Amino acid sequence: MTTKQPGVEPQQTPESLDECRRCALWEHATQAVPGKGPRHAPMMIVGEQPGDQEDLQGKPFVGPAGAMLDRALAEAGVARKEVYVTNAVKHFKWEPRGKRRLHKTPAQREIDACHYWLDRETGDVAPKVIVALGSTALKSVLRDSKATLQASMGHAIEQEGHAIVATYHPSFALRAPDPETRERAYKAIVDALREAHRLVGHHRKER
Ligand code: URA
Repeated sequence: MTTKQPGVEPQQTPESLDECRRCALWEHATQAVPGKGPRHAPMMIVGEQPGDQEDLQGKPFVGPAGAMLDRALAEAGVARKEVYVTNAVKHFKWEPRGKRRLHKTPAQREIDACHYWLDRETGDVAPKVIVALGSTALKSVLRDSKATLQASMGHAIEQEGHAIVATYHPSFALRAPDPETRERAYKAIVDALREAHRLVGHHRKER
């Protein structure tokens, strides 16, 4: 089957995520990292892309950003095992810095190419609420390359039967230069997860 999307070369639809060649990121990644969580989880969390640890382990959010996400989930009263956790882009994009592999933000064409997989996951899991962590996730979830966190945070956005809650990416809360910004970002993540949890209880799906 051939698929056509703006900014994505028409090509054969891959049979599996591991075989995906919809963009070139697979070439330098150890493996594709699929989402993880219950098949019909009412809450889905979408991050940007796997990091170094995720690339090696093949699981989403298992590195330092994952540890922060776990802490925020616990503080918000949400059990991670009840949430489906995934990423907008499924291969690690990086550049070498000495012996380290440094994260590189995915390009819009890579986000567009990988939307195929996020769409499939969203269709399979059919979450009531989707939490978008950071700007890449938000652009992908809203399918809007111009979407900004600033305009989207603080209120849920209804789209195609899902409530979408946007917040900062945990890496921002880990790496922002000053402690006040880090603390504020972390609190915003906890608040967003709490709100998402509340919405799971209230959201009626329109299909
Ligand atoms: N950052 C992400 O966006 N996703 C991960 O899985 C890990 C770090």
